[in-house]
Amino acid sequence: MTTAREIRLKSRPSGMCSHDNFELATVELRDPGPGEVQVQNLWMTVDPYMRGRMNDAQSYSAPFALGKVMDGGAIGQVVASNDPGFKTGDLVQSGFGWREGFTAPAKAVQKLDPRGLPPQAFLGAAGMPGLTAYVGLLKIAALKDGDVVFVSGGAGAVGSMVCQIAKAKGHKVIASAGGPEKVAFLKDIGVDHVIDYKAETDLAAAVLAGAPDGIDVYFDNVGGPHLEAALATARLFARFAICGMISIYNATEPPPGPRNLAQLIGKNIRMEGFIVSHHFDMMPAFLDDLAGWVREGKVTWKETVFEGIEKAPDAFLGLFKGENLGKMLVKLA
Ligand SMILES: NC(=O)c1ccc[n+]([C@@H]2O[C@H](COP(=O)([O-])OP(=O)(O)OC[C@H]3O[C@@H](n4cnc5c(N)ncnc54)[C@H](OP(=O)(O)O)[C@@H]3O)[C@@H](O)[C@H]2O)c1
Repeated sequence: MTTAREIRLKSRPSGMCSHDNFELATVELRDPGPGEVQVQNLWMTVDPYMRGRMNDAQSYSAPFALGKVMDGGAIGQVVASNDPGFKTGDLVQSGFGWREGFTAPAKAVQKLDPRGLPPQAFLGAAGMPGLTAYVGLLKIAALKDGDVVFVSGGAGAVGSMVCQIAKAKGHKVIASAGGPEKVAFLKDIGVDHVIDYKAETDLAAAVLAGAPDGIDVYFDNVGGPHLEAALATARLFARFAICGMISIYNATEPPPGPRNLAQLIGKNIRMEGFIVSHHFDMMPAFLDDLAGWVREGKVTWKETVFEGIEKAPDAFLGLFKGENLGKMLVKLA
């Protein structure tokens, strides 16, 4: 490769992000120097957390720099190597997403063993989102026998893995998602009670329709009214894994709720937030369990794919409009 196209952060959004915040640029790629590799990206991921990185605000991950390429997870193939550890054709994982290719020190990329899975699965079900579901359910919510699990954002990358891991472990699962296609998918993967939240006026009643005695675990991907409904329907000693609150990522004002937070006290609820990067030590155990569940037909996944680097902003913006079923991905080659 001699040139590569990339997406840069052109301006910081105020409220809902838009195409105006991104620009497409073409850069020259230098040949790899000693200890370097050149990689052609095959797939890149867009994830909700990147919205936070578009703000100029201190958070758990650094803000994207204005006028610079946005980075993120990617799977690529080595096209030239000047490092003895890599050869042309090697599949690699990197944090150099939002670009078609790059030249970088070999130590900045990791060789990918696809374990018989499609390589892009390592950006979704077998990657960060899958691990997030595993950590949130098993470690943060400390799932135990007999728990009734409620998950919001159930048809997304993380949520669909939460549903299936909980089902694989024998739990009753209530999941919410927006629209009939997502509802049908969730029923198809064995979710016991599915809520189309866009068609509901009383979310707590909708949860109780599937779990008349209440819920023991809430996996939050959405925040807002979903969190209030979970608090309202929680049983004694419920555990809440607070994973994400996508409903407020584009808000210009702090959210007003949850208004019923006092439920935590009387119900002895434990609510705990987490960031998956603090739990990467669980990746080997997760991949072993995942391999078993895939073999037994207990876990599957969907992808929504946009093609071409120029479509990466469409894919990203689509996350906030519910355009993805399963993992949102961009295919680059
Ligand atoms: N804590 C961590 O370490 C960690 C790691 C990964 C992800 N996360 C969080 O987990 C959540 C899910 O991430 P993901 O990668 O799996 O994304 P995703 O669920 O695959 O995609 C986002 C989905 O969010 C839903 N959504 C968008 N705006 C919404 C709104 N205003 N209200 C309700 N639902 C809305 C849409 O589904 P519908 O059509 O159903 O509305 C959309 O498809 C996000 O909050 C993300 O930030 C946290």
